[in-house]
Amino acid sequence: MNLDDILAKAKSAPRALCEDELVFLLSLTNEAETQTLFAAARDVKLRTSGKGVNLRGIIEMSNVCAKDCFYCGIRKSNTNVARFRLDEDEILRAAQTCIDLRYGSLVLQGGEIESDAHTTFIENVLQKITRMSGGKLGITLSLGEQSEETYARWQCAGAHRYLLRIESADPELYARLHPAGHDFERRKNCLRLLRKTGYQVGSGVLIGVPGQTLPQVARDILFFAEMDLDMIGMGPYIPHRDTPLGADAALTPALAHRQLALGLNMIAVTRLLLHDVNIASTTALQALAPDGRERGVLAGANVIMPNVSDVTHRKDYRLYENKPALDENSEQSLAALVRQLASIGESINWDTRGDSPHFAMRQHA
Ligand code: 5AD
Repeated sequence: MNLDDILAKAKSAPRALCEDELVFLLSLTNEAETQTLFAAARDVKLRTSGKGVNLRGIIEMSNVCAKDCFYCGIRKSNTNVARFRLDEDEILRAAQTCIDLRYGSLVLQGGEIESDAHTTFIENVLQKITRMSGGKLGITLSLGEQSEETYARWQCAGAHRYLLRIESADPELYARLHPAGHDFERRKNCLRLLRKTGYQVGSGVLIGVPGQTLPQVARDILFFAEMDLDMIGMGPYIPHRDTPLGADAALTPALAHRQLALGLNMIAVTRLLLHDVNIASTTALQALAPDGRERGVLAGANVIMPNVSDVTHRKDYRLYENKPALDENSEQSLAALVRQLASIGESINWDTRGDSPHFAMRQHA
């Protein structure tokens, strides 16, 4: 296979690559070749999404979770975590921080809980955030699997984007990463319900899970295309010692290097296949290298989600080891980010919602 030919084809139209070509691109490790790959992805990003990075302040609102994912630090069975739930005032304060810092959008993320009380609590919070921001702030939810009715109520209350990672699009790998009771088909169906309800729909996967093959990773990207997603949020797997999958694994420099490299290739290849979706350069990249998120932008991502949670609870929202910025407040995080983005010649789109261009295209199709 010839790298330049594949990149030229990928740039000429979305969805132009087959599984073998995706695997070929994902497997690149040579520095000159990966730089060529990233430059091609960045070209596509510039063409479809314009210059600049869109921000979403992420509010980690609760680590109480009914799920027990084998890789996740806040899984239900981890008794080494102090559980917390922010109350309404704390969430609204964080939302105000997003407005004050001119982020344009926020993400409300938390452990997966399904109950009437939870649905109503979130609904009230959403109504208040919408009012506070005069309806201008983009609001994304990342609150897991819910009923169609709950998704609809939250949308009526002001949310317009929803992130629900499929974690792996391969049902067998999904089953290896989750205990009984976690249902791949239900999760996939939730993505369909979100679409039907009218959200901009985002999903993503864990990259580089032990035992995962590159064809599986390539098929994850094909799944994004098949589901016609608007947004992608994905990150390299990072072991957490209090989990079944991470108990015997250490995050060595060699592992960090490999995971970062695969995570960056994944962003670039996803951009090259899907073209006009929003792609986040996620915190997991920053956990692997201090400049991980900037490198994600250089590989074709156009969204960054800085943490706006109060520092009191950050240490209790450790999904994986090495989670950065545990003792940094929102203003400090932002100042560092602005500096780091400027150092790679990137700017921030302040006070803009930064909706997915793909979603806009679908609305007009
Ligand atoms: N490494 C990387 N990402 C993780 N997540 C959970 N645990 C880990 C881990 N060990 C991700 C999941 C989830 C998101 C909120 O965090 O993909 O969807």
